[in-house]
Amino acid sequence: MMESLREAADFLRKLGEPRVAVVLGSGLGDVLPLEDERTVPFAEVSGFPAPTAPGHKGEIAVGRLGGVEVLVQRGRLHYYEGYSPEEIVFPVRAYALLGVKVIVFTNASGGIAEGLAPGDLVLIRDHINMLGFNPLRGPNLDELGPRFPDMTQAYDPELRRIAHDVARGLGIELREGVYLATMGPSYETPAEIRAFRALGADLVGMSTVPEVIAARHAGVRVLAISCVTNLAAGIARHPLSHEEVLEIGKRKAAELGRLLRALIPRLPV
Ligand code: HPA
Repeated sequence: MMESLREAADFLRKLGEPRVAVVLGSGLGDVLPLEDERTVPFAEVSGFPAPTAPGHKGEIAVGRLGGVEVLVQRGRLHYYEGYSPEEIVFPVRAYALLGVKVIVFTNASGGIAEGLAPGDLVLIRDHINMLGFNPLRGPNLDELGPRFPDMTQAYDPELRRIAHDVARGLGIELREGVYLATMGPSYETPAEIRAFRALGADLVGMSTVPEVIAARHAGVRVLAISCVTNLAAGIARHPLSHEEVLEIGKRKAAELGRLLRALIPRLPV
């Protein structure tokens, strides 16, 4: 495993040596064009599987943004697509070996907390893992991190302060909440959403948590921004659809792009 990770990192190093990576989620793949960008499809990087979800591109770009070299992953791998947990976290581990110090994750989510509306941008403060697996299961990769990594401050408090500061400066409303990850691909039932709310979840989605666990294991600092694309099941009065999720994602993409462009040069890397 370490060998194929190192191979992928060496391949990516030919594109540059970014210390910041951004992972763009459902419907958000186009929000971050870079200067002088070099792109490769996932399929060309050894060990990277190609994504299958509609609305996901599956490419990696390295370029400059506000004077900072960044890697942008457009599209991601979800458990519901059939990938193994190891495959899902492979890119994040390769970025860690490449020398990435901060990863900014974005995703689409359903809003559970009172007061959330489609289109809201929410900084993830913490997560609840209801995926039913942990990507670190199996022999520990000692070269990446410890057997039992701490998750107390998985979503870096200093980075969150910076993100709030940048959002305030741009007049962008940025809320904060707890993200609960489910396996998908079916959306939740209203009873599940009531249960998740009782557990302390503000947002529900089908991604991000495995990658965050793997990033923290490898000592990479994490910031995660969720775009609420719909009210969660039973809160919305209409059935949920993937089209709705992609549509709201697209509409909020410009604002998210503005936030990321201002935020990335401010990250302490
Ligand atoms: N549930 C799960 N995942 C999601 C949702 C949702 O309501 N919206 C966007 N991703």
